[in-house]
Amino acid sequence: MPTVSIPALGLQLQAEADENLLKVLRRHRVPIGWSCKRGECGSCKCVLERGEVDLQGYQPGALPASQREQGIILACSSRIVGDVQLGLVDTDDYIEHPIRSLACRVLWLRELAPEVFALRLRIVADLGEGGDGAGADAAAGGPFLFSAGQYAHLRARDARGEWIGRDFSMAGTPVEAEYDGELEFHIRRTPSGSFSGLLGEAIVAGTELRLEGPMGRAYFRPRHEGPLYAVAAGTGLGPMLSVVQTALDNGKTDPVVLYAGFRSVSEVYGVDRMEELARRHAQFRAHVVVEFDAPGGLRGGRVGDALFADVKDFRDAKVYLAGSPAMVEAVSAELLTRGLASRDVHADAFYAPAPEAIHAARAGAAKG
Ligand SMILES: Cc1cc2nc3c(=O)[nH]c(=O)nc-3n(C[C@H](O)[C@H](O)[C@H](O)COP(=O)(O)OP(=O)(O)OC[C@H]3O[C@@H](n4cnc5c(N)ncnc54)[C@H](O)[C@@H]3O)c2cc1C
Ligand code: FES
Repeated sequence: MPTVSIPALGLQLQAEADENLLKVLRRHRVPIGWSCKRGECGSCKCVLERGEVDLQGYQPGALPASQREQGIILACSSRIVGDVQLGLVDTDDYIEHPIRSLACRVLWLRELAPEVFALRLRIVADLGEGGDGAGADAAAGGPFLFSAGQYAHLRARDARGEWIGRDFSMAGTPVEAEYDGELEFHIRRTPSGSFSGLLGEAIVAGTELRLEGPMGRAYFRPRHEGPLYAVAAGTGLGPMLSVVQTALDNGKTDPVVLYAGFRSVSEVYGVDRMEELARRHAQFRAHVVVEFDAPGGLRGGRVGDALFADVKDFRDAKVYLAGSPAMVEAVSAELLTRGLASRDVHADAFYAPAPEAIHAARAGAAKG
């Protein structure tokens, strides 16, 4: 049986022959990031210090050749072929909240911009480890804890009564969840979308949803000292608002700067919350950037270009990113090119599920 050793954490893990490396690390709750699980996002990077893996089927953008030459691999795209020794690329401020399985009720659904909704949930029951509701009790597992920037897997019943699930990032703060038992998400509705298309139809005030989480490693690092930049595309603004608000509420005194990117002016939302934060915190700045039809007074162009036009020196900074994979991948790659270490780039791209999962949901819906 091959072993995976991680000297930095004093771990020696047993793996199955041919097992996927990310699966082994997650099974043993090793602090490693992951998101797409198919070699596209680069979240699951680790350093292969000794031994070999079979590394296949990843996008070159997720693991540039220069990093591969330094021994960096993607755990999700690596198959174990023998004993290996690993180093982790990001263990600073490691926080692990227990993953919970919860029943939630929709408190309200509000349109923030055309086809963009705020979905506010109240936690009503803890479904326990197996998520089967045995002994369900809202207080059973204690308050729901997460770190700003994390996401959860939400499930709703579709028109056929089948559960359909997708990942969504928390737009409210961890404090609201812990003390009020309420969670907020900002969701773009695609009318043909298997989950988001249910908003306003099968998902309305009073609907019961299931939630599993929290997940994700692109969360706010409270011990970091230095400027914080948060870059959002579309509904990526939800988790980025959570990050900047949490940083400011935590008393961060370094500059905290939010870049909120939208494709068109009709999609802009969240300005009131940004203005309120700017009124309360002198160290906070927000830039709304509209790509295609920016009227006078609003900044035009791509959100990443705005960041790089304003900031020439990222020394001591951390950058958080959320939203479309195109924006997150392009800006992350440019930050690394400009010398920011990958441990200071915390990115969650909103990848759609694998095409097979979307087709399966559609095929089921067509039959039903
Ligand atoms: C970590 C993470 C966090 C996320 N956080 C958020 C968030 O906070 N807010 C948010 O809005 N989203 C978020 N997402 C994205 C979200 O999980 C969903 O992918 C998104 O809402 C679309 O899901 P859906 O079921 O509505 O659409 P799906 O049915 O999954 O379809 C996805 C898209 O592909 C198109 N498509 C694919 N295949 C076909 C086909 N065969 N025929 C026609 N059209 C097709 C659909 O029209 C649609 O636009 C996040 C994703 C991840 C991974
Ligand atoms: S989780 Fe491995 S590259 Fe995305």
